[in-house]
Order: sequence, then C-alpha cells, then structure tokens
Amino acid sequence: MSESQTEQATVAFEVCEGIAWVKFNRPEKRNCMNPPLNRQMMRVLDELEFRDDVGVLVLAGEGSAWSAGMDLKEYFRETEAKGMGAVRQAQRESYGWWRRLRWYQKPTIAMVNGWCFGGGYGPLFGCDLAFAAEEAQFGLSEINWGILPGGGATKIAVELMTFRNAMYHALMGETIDGKKAAEWGLVNEALPLGALKDRVTEVARVLLQKNPVALKATKDAIRRVGEMTYDNAEDFLVRAQEAANSFDNDGRKEGIRQFIDDKTYKPGLGSYDKSKQK
Ligand code: ACO
Repeated sequence: MSESQTEQATVAFEVCEGIAWVKFNRPEKRNCMNPPLNRQMMRVLDELEFRDDVGVLVLAGEGSAWSAGMDLKEYFRETEAKGMGAVRQAQRESYGWWRRLRWYQKPTIAMVNGWCFGGGYGPLFGCDLAFAAEEAQFGLSEINWGILPGGGATKIAVELMTFRNAMYHALMGETIDGKKAAEWGLVNEALPLGALKDRVTEVARVLLQKNPVALKATKDAIRRVGEMTYDNAEDFLVRAQEAANSFDNDGRKEGIRQFIDDKTYKPGLGSYDKSKQK
C-alpha cells in the first residue's frame, strides 16, 4: 500500500439510508489517533458534511476500541522528535477535526463500542450525542504516563461531569465502564454492546425526521449559550432563530399548519411531516 492509501485506510465510512457510519479504523492499534488518521478524518468529514444523502453522522470504532486516545508513538514521541513546528501541526490536525465535529452541519452521534481514552474525549465531546456499550471503558489515563489531560480533555471533563467526579477521574487514572460514564454524564445512555447499534440507528432515524435547519440551529445554540449570561443568551437566540428563518422560511410555517389547520400531528409528541412541505 502506498503512503496515501495507508492514510486513507485509517478511517472507514459508508452511507446508508441517510446515516453516515464513520469508523476509526486502526483496530490493531486500538484506533489510537496518529497524524495520518487525524488528516484523513478531516477529509472524510469534509466529504460528508453537505451531501444530500447524509442527515446524521455516527462515529464508531472498528474492533475492540472506540479510540485509545492519541498515538503515544506517532503523535507524541515521533512528532516531538521533529521539533515544535511538527508538534503544532499535529495539534492543529487533531484539534481541527474535533472542532469541525463540534460545529458540524449535521447532528453527530458517538457510538462508543469499546476503549475510550484521553484524546478520545475530544471527538466524544465533538459529537452532539453519545451512546456507549456497558462494556466500554473510559479513562483519562494521562496521569498514568505523566501528563495532564490536554487537547481539551480537562475542559471536557469539567464541562460534562461534576467537579468531584472530574477531579477524581483526572487524578486517579482509573477506568469507568459505560454505565458509570452515563451516570457521570459522559454519554447519554449505556446499553449492552449487542443492542448499541440498534439504539443508535433508532435515535438517528428520529433526527432524520426533523427540520435540518432547526437541528443545526439548536445544536449550535446548546453549545453556545453555556458561556453566556441569561440576557445575552436570550438575545442570541432571537438572532439565531431569525437567521435560521432566512434559510428555511417554509419549514416552521408548515409545522404550524399541520398542527393548527390539518391537525395531523402534535408537536409535543413528534415531528411534522417534512415530505408534505410545498
Ligand atoms: N498509542 C500508541 N499505541 C497504542 C495505543 C496508544 N494510545 N493504544 C494501543 N496501542 C497499540 C499497542 O502499543 C499495541 O501495539 P503493538 O501490537 O504494535 O504492540 C496495539 O495497539 C494493541 O494494544 P494492546 O495494549 O496490546 O491492546 P489491549 O487490548 O491489551 O489493551 C488498551 C488496550 C487498554 C487500550 C491499551 O492498549 C492501552 O492502555 N492503550 C493506551 C491508552 C492510553 O492511555 N492512551 C493515551 C491517552 S492520553 C492522550 O490521548 C493524550
């Protein structure tokens, strides 16, 4: 395999019925993230983001891992040996695709099938929703090999967990299973590995029925308002809705029409039928 083919093989993906299934694909290295994987993941995100046949993106891992974090050999040791320029470039490549995920056009779901360590928390937080196998193991293992949880992992721990749990998790370097990860807020739900894909598919299908402009506006709003005062958030949300209206003038009117005039659905209980939108 040529170097570029090896790089492409680090990420696998297929699109099926509106869902893009993207996989970390270095199972023999427990899907740890090396520079080629980080570059390839950005290319795959680029390719899928505005495709009409993609409504939801799921990020999973091939084999026994979701991602064992950064590649200690290729991302740290070999890159550091090349000097500061190489270190900064490798950081830009990894942080870059995690940031891209956080603000992705389509809703994203992490399907955490196995190991998830350290740097893996970047894409975990990048995904809007997260579902884990009960058997999965999560850890901020940085402390075990002598660094702090960088690349945003400390921020993510504090963002998602209580102060006490974040501190314990980061200082102790112990793993927690999927159930505990759900209890601590790292993921939405944990369920047996055998049931994981069906549940994620079910959630993705619900999202596929929603108005896509409203989905993007909502996911961005949830991420943005956390750091705003109430009044700033109130103002931001007015502007964000008005901006969304300019992209989708008819969707919400159709949503009101099907409820008030046609009485064909109840917004409190489900979505309007997008296919009837004129
Ligand atoms: N960096 C580099 N290589 C890795 C990494 C990693 N993060 N994780 C696994 N590998 C490699 C192993 O070196 C091994 O390579 P080899 O076959 O050439 O010897 C191969 O992947 C398989 O790993 P094993 O350890 O044999 O797999 P096992 O299933 O027994 O254990 C586990 C899995 C627990 C994930 C273990 O590999 C591990 O502890 N990995 C490191 C996890 C970690 O701490 N990551 C860093 C977080 S901190 C950060 O990301 C900034």
